[in-house]
Amino acid sequence: MIVRASAAISLDGYINDLSSQRLILSSPEDWAEVKAARAACDAILVGAETIRQDDPALVTRQETLRAQRLAAGQAPDPIKVTLSRSGKLDPQARFFTEGAGEKIVFLSEEAPEKAVSALQKVATVFRMADTELTPSHILNRLENHGVRSLFIEGGTRVLTEFLSQDAVDYLRIAIAPFFVGEASAPRLVGEARFPFHKGRRMHLLRSGRAGDMAVLEYALRYDAEDYARLEEAIALAENCPCSETAYSVGALLITADGHRFTGYSRETAPNNHAEEEAILKAEQEGCSLEGATIYSSMEPCSTRKSKPLSCSALICRHRMRRVVFAAYEPIHFVHCCGERMLKEAGIDVAVIESLSSRALAVNRHILHPVGDDATEPNR
Ligand SMILES: NC(=O)c1ccc[n+]([C@@H]2O[C@H](COP(=O)([O-])OP(=O)(O)OC[C@H]3O[C@@H](n4cnc5c(N)ncnc54)[C@H](OP(=O)(O)O)[C@@H]3O)[C@@H](O)[C@H]2O)c1
Repeated sequence: MIVRASAAISLDGYINDLSSQRLILSSPEDWAEVKAARAACDAILVGAETIRQDDPALVTRQETLRAQRLAAGQAPDPIKVTLSRSGKLDPQARFFTEGAGEKIVFLSEEAPEKAVSALQKVATVFRMADTELTPSHILNRLENHGVRSLFIEGGTRVLTEFLSQDAVDYLRIAIAPFFVGEASAPRLVGEARFPFHKGRRMHLLRSGRAGDMAVLEYALRYDAEDYARLEEAIALAENCPCSETAYSVGALLITADGHRFTGYSRETAPNNHAEEEAILKAEQEGCSLEGATIYSSMEPCSTRKSKPLSCSALICRHRMRRVVFAAYEPIHFVHCCGERMLKEAGIDVAVIESLSSRALAVNRHILHPVGDDATEPNR
């Protein structure tokens, strides 16, 4: 799943002021970008306090955006998701009453029954033990519910939780050109230990403007070196012997002590996958793969017709540390759950989706065959 977080802040880092009225930080241009980003996601998440204070509708009203969602095979409205331990949410809030999309509430098992049954009338309620109400469990639950992209919009506590627990792939910050200057107003994040600090900086993907606002976009799962290495893996896929029934994939493996091994599909045997080819070369040289990172142009497979172990299983067995890939395996052929399998094994997974179309281009003869139905690839 791709998780994006977004917030508009004042120049001094506040996301609201202390007045009873909602502070408008966004310019019209920023609003347009946020609405487009919302509409591109399967689900939008806000904390219960944001619903109580701001009563946001979070619906996609623009016909062009709704049409784009339909064309992409999505429902016209993204799913709306909120979190609450207390259950103090008004079923009449616009979050629940506006838009035809599903509403989901994550509630603590401790929440009062009266509140639970009122919310069950307007939303799908997931009740979880307090200890399970963590970003990783919440994301897992949403993933099992079919959510593949999530847009988190705040407020402070939710952003703090998801950012500090390393559960965000991309962060978009739009900075309004004014100060709030109220020390106890809500800030972008609260006190926590974040995975990014003076010793580990985030990767700035884009800096631009939206009207009078500066917009910054950060990648939290990868940096420029990862990007360059993944481009290398994608280029390797060009070498694959052509197949009508299996994808062309390239892989680059970097061991913990810096040795590099490359591979591409069918490089040394007709059924070999790219990751497997790179792993075989490392094994032949007697290199340990513990702690290694593998870059693959496509999500490592999770099932194999022709071999006992999938590439994801091989990666887990070798106790690699990280997997970086560009394209999810297209779901209309086999249902690949490599990403989930790797994450469940505690492996750090980064998806550089901006390279996805380049990774898939070499497979266009399978994905978009001319005038015929595709044969099912047997990756
Ligand atoms: N500028 C922006 O882009 C932007 C965007 C959104 C919001 N905001 C602002 O943010 C402020 C609200 O921020 P906030 O920090 O007070 O509240 P929040 O993050 O919106 O919501 C916090 C509440 O969410 C629930 N919650 C959070 N994590 C949970 C978890 N893991 N499990 C279960 N429930 C969980 C709890 O609800 P219960 O209390 O019900 O247990 C908690 O009190 C508002 O002023 C709003 O205007 C600004």
